[in-house]
Amino acid sequence: EKNGFDTFMLKEIHEQPRAYRDTMRGRIDEANQSVVLPGMHLTDEQARDVRHIQMVACGTAYHAALVGKTVIERLTRIPVEVDLASEYRYRMPVVPDHTLVIAVSQSGETADTLAAMKEAKERGARVMAITNVVGSSVAREAEDVLFTLAGPEIAVASTKAYTSQLIAFYLLALRMAEARGTIDKVMLVEMLALLERLPVQVEEMLQRLQPIEQLAHQITRHEHLFFIGRGLDYSVAMEASLKLKEISYIHSEAYAAGELKHGSLALIEEGTPVIALATDERLLEKTISNIKEVKARGAYVIGIALEGNMELAKTADHVIYVPHTHALLTPAVAVIPLQLLAYYTATLRGNDVDKPRNLAKSVTVE
Ligand code: M6R
Repeated sequence: EKNGFDTFMLKEIHEQPRAYRDTMRGRIDEANQSVVLPGMHLTDEQARDVRHIQMVACGTAYHAALVGKTVIERLTRIPVEVDLASEYRYRMPVVPDHTLVIAVSQSGETADTLAAMKEAKERGARVMAITNVVGSSVAREAEDVLFTLAGPEIAVASTKAYTSQLIAFYLLALRMAEARGTIDKVMLVEMLALLERLPVQVEEMLQRLQPIEQLAHQITRHEHLFFIGRGLDYSVAMEASLKLKEISYIHSEAYAAGELKHGSLALIEEGTPVIALATDERLLEKTISNIKEVKARGAYVIGIALEGNMELAKTADHVIYVPHTHALLTPAVAVIPLQLLAYYTATLRGNDVDKPRNLAKSVTVE
């Protein structure tokens, strides 16, 4: 059932192009160039009525929500807050009128996420879910459900569930932007075309990412490392860092690149690996100056850049290139090489990649 792959995780990484297609299937109306979300009861009028969005999730789903926040804010201008479900449930959250709460959960059975949804409901919010499991508790607790349809995910470390949550957020943000009139038709058509191109782009990228296995040798003997990035690159850095930690057991931290010199720069010494995500062209210069700062302290830098970028190679020790797409869609390509980097690093260390120590696939108790 591993389909020729050594592990479920590797199989699931390679299933991502298919998962992207499955998440999009039937949800893009080609004739009208519009997004349709049949599972959602939220009408256009109700979508126009939303004034605040709060998201609750744990772990990788939380990282997907962070991307969702940027995408929804950019396309709809609705302010979005993202909370860890375990914090939200106990922090006596302020839930103003016209708040939509979105819970994100692969399994749909995470105890904290469910409790956060209940808390939000009690405080009067409309609750929506993005989940992979039809009939799950989270799906049942929500008024509107957007299923990710990524297929079963067996490996404890989430890969295709995360990326299909990103696709779900893109669809949701576009739908809400259409309903609210905050996106013009030209941009909508362009974004839909780029969204539909993602599966092919990821397929092509997966075919040429073999050298990442070599790169993993560079980090496998280290005990700590950093991921840095700005904006969406920072959100992806957080997910990449969690992936590496949970399966390789190497300590890593994701830092907003601009925050480095406020403390953690002190930890950089000769040879410390720093994985620098620099796909956001608007912030490229800023991130490059942060890369220079860590390089000057002896860091070994692996950069993630868009194909055709000549700048990063001048400062980084090694650059992994990801395909061009809309800036908001870039997380759906940028995370892929980092999933593989975590995977190969863990494999080189001889770890059980599918079942990392101390962790369960679904955290149904607090
Ligand atoms: O099933 P959920 O999406 O609610 O699970 C949330 C987290 O437990 C989960 O994403 C966890 O962080 C993964 N092991 C990450 O790979």
